[in-house]
Amino acid sequence: MSTSPLIETLRLDDEQDALVIIDQTLLPNEVRYLSLKTQSQIWEAIQQLRVRGAPAIGIAAAYGVYLAVKHSTANDHSTFLDEFRQASRYLASARPTAVNLFWALQRMEDVITSSAVITAGADVDIPQLVTALRQEADAILAEDIQTNQAIGENALALLQVGDGLLTHCNAGGLATARYGTATAPIYLGQERGYHFKVFADETRPLLQGARLTTFELAQAGVDVTLICDNMAATVMHNGWVQAVLVGCDRVAANGDTANKIGTLGVAVLAHEFGIPFYVCAPSSTIDLATANGQLIPIEERNPEEIYRKWYQTPMAPEQGVKFYNPAFDVTPAKYISAIISEYGIARPPFEPALRKMKEQG
Ligand code: MRU
Repeated sequence: MSTSPLIETLRLDDEQDALVIIDQTLLPNEVRYLSLKTQSQIWEAIQQLRVRGAPAIGIAAAYGVYLAVKHSTANDHSTFLDEFRQASRYLASARPTAVNLFWALQRMEDVITSSAVITAGADVDIPQLVTALRQEADAILAEDIQTNQAIGENALALLQVGDGLLTHCNAGGLATARYGTATAPIYLGQERGYHFKVFADETRPLLQGARLTTFELAQAGVDVTLICDNMAATVMHNGWVQAVLVGCDRVAANGDTANKIGTLGVAVLAHEFGIPFYVCAPSSTIDLATANGQLIPIEERNPEEIYRKWYQTPMAPEQGVKFYNPAFDVTPAKYISAIISEYGIARPPFEPALRKMKEQG
């Protein structure tokens, strides 16, 4: 499956002891890579959305904790574990909604707390543990690529040649190691002559749809049309959309799904117009420990993102106005036609199907 050669979301530079990311805040006008060496640089990059998208921040954090302990001088297991946990807690505090961040950090911690390591106790070989952490972070990245390929195949089976597709935010290659989740079937369809026509919601306030989704789809030669968020109803009413494909940051056990703010509105519209609404999610985004969407923590961000960030002058009076800037919303399961993971297609009622997918992981 071919995506843009311009885009490499993130990678480890082991010689430089750095996490290298494409700075997504500068796209589409500037392609600049950043070498992040310190924990605070990695935390800031995640918090400021220089690296973003649920799977990508999980991978960034995995490499982040590896780098944090790579040159540890600890000579016993418990000191090493303390150092690891300090870095892990810090990186976990960068953003609250995408469960992949916590999932990846837990996977990394499991390397250090696995029973074989615990049994070795104080005599544990720290350099060997560091190598194992590196391998685990590499595995998380490599699995993400395979997972997205599988999501692409599974989702493509639900689509027809010539379909109009609407997507929200960026669940693309930039949000993952490669291919994206919601974009994986689009890239696959592009290769196989499906001639999709994609509508990308701009996705206020941070414009991930305008800046990132159109950028990467256009680079790959996909037919993509940018619309403002408030135009989705019109393109649906015009009969131009046969399916909605979105990514997600956390799927609760009952199928309620948190994704970029505005997703709920798109889901309600799709329901009204009888258009299937598909959520593309790696199994790592399924969080069975969260029973329903009301329990998913929703990040609130700086109000300036709404009225000032993209404008030369503020677009709202700064005095006497209250601002509310949630970064995500929750789409109740009843609006979701299917949740598509690397293991297949879950249909309502979601809970048993999601449990089965999680068990396969
Ligand atoms: O705030 P962002 O840009 O990190 O939000 C990203 C999204 O909402 C994506 O749709 C989601 O993380 C899925 S990425 C495959």
